[in-house]
Amino acid sequence: MKIFKIDHLFFHCNFQMSLALLCSVAADIISTVEFNSTGELLATGDKGGRVVVFQREQESKNQPHRRGEYNVYSTFQSHEPEFDYLKSLEIEEKINKIRWLPQQNAAYFLLSTNDKTVKLWKISERDKRPEGYNLKDEDGRIRDPATITTLRVPVVRPMDLMVEATPRRVFSNAHTYHINSISVNSDYETFMSTDDLRINLWNLEITNRSFNIVDIKPANMEELTEVITAAEFHPHQCNTFVYSSSKGSIRLCDMRASALCDNHSKFFEEPEDPSNRSFFSEIISSISDVKFSHSGRYLMTRDYLTVKVWDLNMESQPLETYQVHDYLRSKLCSLYENDCIFDKFECVWNGSDSVIMTGSYNNFFRMFDRNTKRDVTLEASRENSKPRAILKPRKVCVGGKRRKDEISVDSLDFSKKILHTAWHPYENIIAVAATNNLYIFQDKVN
Ligand SMILES: *[C@@H]1O[C@H](CO)[C@@H](O)[C@H](O)[C@H]1NC(C)=O
Ligand SMILES: *[C@@H]1O[C@H](CO)[C@@H](O)[C@H](O)[C@H]1NC(C)=O
Ligand SMILES: *[C@@H]1O[C@H](CO)[C@@H](O)[C@H](O)[C@H]1NC(C)=O
Ligand SMILES: *[C@@H]1O[C@H](CO)[C@@H](O)[C@H](O)[C@H]1NC(C)=O
Ligand SMILES: *[C@@H]1O[C@H](CO)[C@@H](O)[C@H](O)[C@H]1NC(C)=O
Repeated sequence: MKIFKIDHLFFHCNFQMSLALLCSVAADIISTVEFNSTGELLATGDKGGRVVVFQREQESKNQPHRRGEYNVYSTFQSHEPEFDYLKSLEIEEKINKIRWLPQQNAAYFLLSTNDKTVKLWKISERDKRPEGYNLKDEDGRIRDPATITTLRVPVVRPMDLMVEATPRRVFSNAHTYHINSISVNSDYETFMSTDDLRINLWNLEITNRSFNIVDIKPANMEELTEVITAAEFHPHQCNTFVYSSSKGSIRLCDMRASALCDNHSKFFEEPEDPSNRSFFSEIISSISDVKFSHSGRYLMTRDYLTVKVWDLNMESQPLETYQVHDYLRSKLCSLYENDCIFDKFECVWNGSDSVIMTGSYNNFFRMFDRNTKRDVTLEASRENSKPRAILKPRKVCVGGKRRKDEISVDSLDFSKKILHTAWHPYENIIAVAATNNLYIFQDKVN
């Protein structure tokens, strides 16, 4: 793995972000990024089933103005490719989601999932090792009892710090379809895993049993008109969760109402504008991500062209709608032909729920300030990341004359897409995954 560190690189825009770390994770496409709840750790998962954990280094006393950088802390293989013999299907090792658990002791715990299996990993540090066993030698080989003539007392000796990742639990055999989301409940005892048609609830301690809390599978699969695309627990109310669908709707469910939450308690959907109806309407209205705000008051959803903010108390329409890349409206036909129209972009809130970030094509990502209504397009690119260079916001031009610095819609690279991003819980530090590069940007150091 190559890591490039570029210090003090400022963008001068409404959102002053500078590049803190650019990390290229071998040949593998990053498939998820997630900060822990204090932002000191950042985990990425990739297509090859690997998890890389970055830790922010302690602020140094000599350079109080320099903030901690993120360094690789641990790398481990979370999932391996498997084969489902019953269905003759290959199960990819790709990590679909990572979620951190709150820290309870010196070790860190995270959940990672591929299409079928969720794993609970423990990441712990070791700087001592026991030596002087009686029945085995230092390499762990059993000693010949005939050679053991004296009894030794094992001792603990210091050694170089080692970070180990150990699988603690494997939650498997509960999903027939592909898992798209996992979410840890605020009771920190349960979590849910969601596939195209079902949501299961697990206790973190129990792997051989899960409860099915949502099942939208019709008796006859030919009647299938809708699939579940994402789900998340409310950040504070442990009985409440939401799930989004391929039809652009969001259902809020209350687990207190009944064991099976097929009957939602709230249903959020925007009425369709008949003048905008087209062959692509249904595809582009499919929700690719849903996130509660930190406050728990709002929901944010991402569909192909927009990000919407919903008030939990208003089901009939979103409170705010932000256009991510409206210039693609005229390109939907070719985006359908190259399958890009099915790309699943995620969206994130900043720590105070005042700014929204989501990705686009050409390694562009967008930020929307909900208060000032200003927005910006930034680019995660190595070429633009020269030390001390000022990164300018990017502009896409639609028809007409193209100004200098503008890029025309026709020259956007659709193979470069930013699907996964994360925002530090308290600070203006963001992580942006651009194919196999991880960019960590931070706002200008004063
Ligand atoms: C996040 O990671 C840092 C380690 O760098 C740790 O101190 C902190 O407790 C973690 N937070 C949680 C909630 O796990
Ligand atoms: C799950 O495992 C526990 C402990 O091994 C066992 O007591 C319990 O009966 C099992 N439950 C099911 C549903 O298999
Ligand atoms: C869901 O609601 C419908 C109609 O309101 C009712 O007939 C059905 O029994 C409910 N199902 C559950 C599981 O509560
Ligand atoms: C309809 O299309 C226009 C642009 O052509 C867009 O600005 C508007 O938001 C669309 N309406 C809906 C409800 O999607
Ligand atoms: C959220 O974004 C606003 C605007 O950039 C910024 O002032 C604020 O510090 C951010 N909040 C957090 C907690 O990151």
